[in-house]
Amino acid sequence: MDRKKIVIAEPKGKLGVLIPGMGAVTTTFLAGLESIRRGLYPAYGSLTQMGHIRLGRRDENRQPLMKDVIPLAALPDIVCAGWDIFPDNCYEAAKHAGVLTPEQLDPIKDFLAGIQPMKAVFDRRYVRKLDGPHVKSGATWWDKHLQLDEDIQKFAADNGIDRMVMIWCGSTEVYMEPSAVHQSIEAFERGLKDNDEHIAPSMVYAYTAIKRGIPYINGSPHLCTDMPALIELAAKTGAPIAGKDYKTGQTLMKTMIAPGLKARMLGIDGWFSTNLLGNRDGEVLADPGSFKSKEVSKLSVLDTILQPDLYPDLYAKIHHMVRINYYPPRGDDKEGWDNIDIFGWMGRKMQIKINFLCRDSILAAPVVLDLVLFADLAARAGMPGIQEWLSFYFKSPMTAESVYPEHDLFIQLTKLKNTLRYIIGEELITHLGIEYYNYFD
Ligand SMILES: NC(=O)c1ccc[n+]([C@@H]2O[C@H](COP(=O)([O-])OP(=O)(O)OC[C@H]3O[C@@H](n4cnc5c(N)ncnc54)[C@H](O)[C@@H]3O)[C@@H](O)[C@H]2O)c1
Repeated sequence: MDRKKIVIAEPKGKLGVLIPGMGAVTTTFLAGLESIRRGLYPAYGSLTQMGHIRLGRRDENRQPLMKDVIPLAALPDIVCAGWDIFPDNCYEAAKHAGVLTPEQLDPIKDFLAGIQPMKAVFDRRYVRKLDGPHVKSGATWWDKHLQLDEDIQKFAADNGIDRMVMIWCGSTEVYMEPSAVHQSIEAFERGLKDNDEHIAPSMVYAYTAIKRGIPYINGSPHLCTDMPALIELAAKTGAPIAGKDYKTGQTLMKTMIAPGLKARMLGIDGWFSTNLLGNRDGEVLADPGSFKSKEVSKLSVLDTILQPDLYPDLYAKIHHMVRINYYPPRGDDKEGWDNIDIFGWMGRKMQIKINFLCRDSILAAPVVLDLVLFADLAARAGMPGIQEWLSFYFKSPMTAESVYPEHDLFIQLTKLKNTLRYIIGEELITHLGIEYYNYFD
């Protein structure tokens, strides 16, 4: 492959992080960010902060911290703002979310209480289980887009911001398929002015960001940027885009375990996954429209990892079921069960049971941090449009139209690290390793 010299602009000045939706994931992210900045915790779970990257041959033993060799924005330079349909400041919202303990929140109360959401672009048709008072009025989507744009300009001016990234941490909207209004920039802009019902609030946020060349990340499973109009707009304005649906919890486990079973040519008859979830996300997902967005995102994972068309004897007959049960007593402390019916040599059947008592937002918060830093890096490296190398973080990775998404977590990690090596001008690592032996001399 011809290597082009890539010039990465230095991460000078402040990085503004714009967040639609300031619930459990956002407040956990913000609380962690500030606690890390104050030296209260290491950045557990964050590849950008704790991960090392091997450079060069294995016998060179060069394994620096990623952040020491990749020009990422520094945490003290991050300034955050966002929107929500509830006016609570982020301290109140964090208490409501119940992910972190008072002992963890109180030392950073001043910081969290100082972040007050701006009024949201919201419409109950797209998130049927929620309603809140803190919303923008305006006759059309276009009017609301202009108001969002004003919010962004004001935030940047008030805080002396140099660059921005927008990351969706709002609720999951109802399932939609791309339609005529999503096919071109012109159709989409007409749709904004005509208040087209196939445009959802998340798309208005995304359009506003991408129009200004601001990277946009979709953390939910809904359609949002997954359409020709916004992909075309991103190519035009230079905005990196990535999505969708943060890979945490059960799907994270699935993308670790399924590649292992497949690597050893073990067959699977069935994979039944069920969850208890008691937070607001769980409540939203109790609506069949929002659940459908999530279900599609969760189900696609196994098919692409297992490739039943290539391995019909092992995977053609798999029963894959996913359930999410809204069970309020659990709050954010999710409980997931997986029952995997597998078979091996001479068809003998075996079972694997996984009981994951996870905290979704604890898994999602470092993903938000890494995505923000990498999306900003992509913008400074001149990489517009879809960032497939960030699929490591998503349940339904966005890819070029010509390729299927890669779901195997370990291939995704290799892809991510090789992309980083590529853009900083280091050798790619194939893991061939034959250079340490003299088989063919
Ligand atoms: N927690 C995880 O591990 C995880 C994993 C993958 C995806 N996600 C997705 O991330 C999103 C956030 O999850 P959460 O647990 O923080 O949910 P949450 O319900 O705690 O927070 C979502 C917030 O978004 C707000 N909101 C809804 N529509 C909005 C709009 N149009 N504009 C501004 N704010 C809006 C809600 O009022 C709420 O405060 C969800 O879509 C969820 O599916 C979360």
